[in-house]
Amino acid sequence: MYDYLLMAPGPVPLSPEVKHILAEDMIHHRSPLFQAALDSVMAKLPNVFACDGKVLFFTSTGTGAMEACMLNFVGPGDKVAVVNSGKFGERWLQMAYRIGCEVIEIPVKWGESLKLEQVTHVLEQHPDLDAFFTQYCETSTGALHPVKQIASYIKERQASCLVAVDAITAVLTTELNMREWGIDLCVAGSQKAFMLPTGLGFLAISEHAEERIKKDRPFLYFDITQELKARKSGQTAYSSNVPLIRALDMVLEKIEQDGLQNFISNVQARAELCRRALAVMNLEIYPQNPAPALTAFRSPEGMDGAKLRNHLEERYNLTLMGGQEHLKGKILRIGHMGHLSHANISDAMIRLAHGLADFSYEVDMQKLEKALS
Ligand SMILES: Cc1ncc(COP(=O)(O)O)c(C=O)c1O
Repeated sequence: MYDYLLMAPGPVPLSPEVKHILAEDMIHHRSPLFQAALDSVMAKLPNVFACDGKVLFFTSTGTGAMEACMLNFVGPGDKVAVVNSGKFGERWLQMAYRIGCEVIEIPVKWGESLKLEQVTHVLEQHPDLDAFFTQYCETSTGALHPVKQIASYIKERQASCLVAVDAITAVLTTELNMREWGIDLCVAGSQKAFMLPTGLGFLAISEHAEERIKKDRPFLYFDITQELKARKSGQTAYSSNVPLIRALDMVLEKIEQDGLQNFISNVQARAELCRRALAVMNLEIYPQNPAPALTAFRSPEGMDGAKLRNHLEERYNLTLMGGQEHLKGKILRIGHMGHLSHANISDAMIRLAHGLADFSYEVDMQKLEKALS
């Protein structure tokens, strides 16, 4: 029997150190014992985003942080542009419509990346945008958007337009500089490159954006003015997620010691290894501009990708993700984040090759092993 291998684009495998911390006895979130971890996380998180302001965290998934971002910065009637390039762009859209914003949708074909011309066009048509929402990496397609270029471009033309980025699978996998690129709001989640279980949603807020928080909103938990008030005394407004915050402290400490760039380079090296192996297997990468966090590839002509995915899970104990909506059965997605070694990637590629062979799709194993060595 094969050992279980989790290679989804989140959640991700945990390191022994993280598992050790998660198994520790519970302590109270207002105790001095916990305060050191809380202080340390609050101090370190802004470096991850290169944020000049604060990074808040909620006991929620990434969607919770997206919602906190939207609810606190835009309201009914506000004009917001939303990039829709896949499942998660749709999520921003859904939220904006529910809030009652005037929504300018920027559609991007699934698998493609946002083009500057599209943004130029929208800015020309709408010189009065309140906010612009996009993904950095659209995880449903594996595409990376040129956020550095786009954010700076928007800020040069419409300085008052808030730029909000869902960087849930971009943070710690590729460059990110809120301060220099002019990003006001940035969202992340613990179960991705932070290498933790699901349960912390992050919202990084630039100093400039802090002045734009909507007042007197009809909700409580995600009212960030409560969190900002608690911050003044180094606290979270409600019960902190003690185990995840302690584990996060250790992860951030390690990233600081090893160097942020080295951490990112490791994710990228895993992506490259995976893509070399897929090329040997003649499998086509799906997005035009693949993000480092994951590789989405097309299932071979005539093969049902959903069946292949289930077979890999049942026969080879390997979890990859399939495609969503119209990409169901058409693509598979392999994650590169988390506590993964090159040996894990090689192992997954060999299992994939065997799985493909079970569906009569032959792979040159010698060539594959060479590419993986
Ligand atoms: C880009 C992106 N946005 C949003 C989400 C939603 O995060 P969660 O499932 O933690 O709510 C995900 C999750 O995969 C994601 O990849």
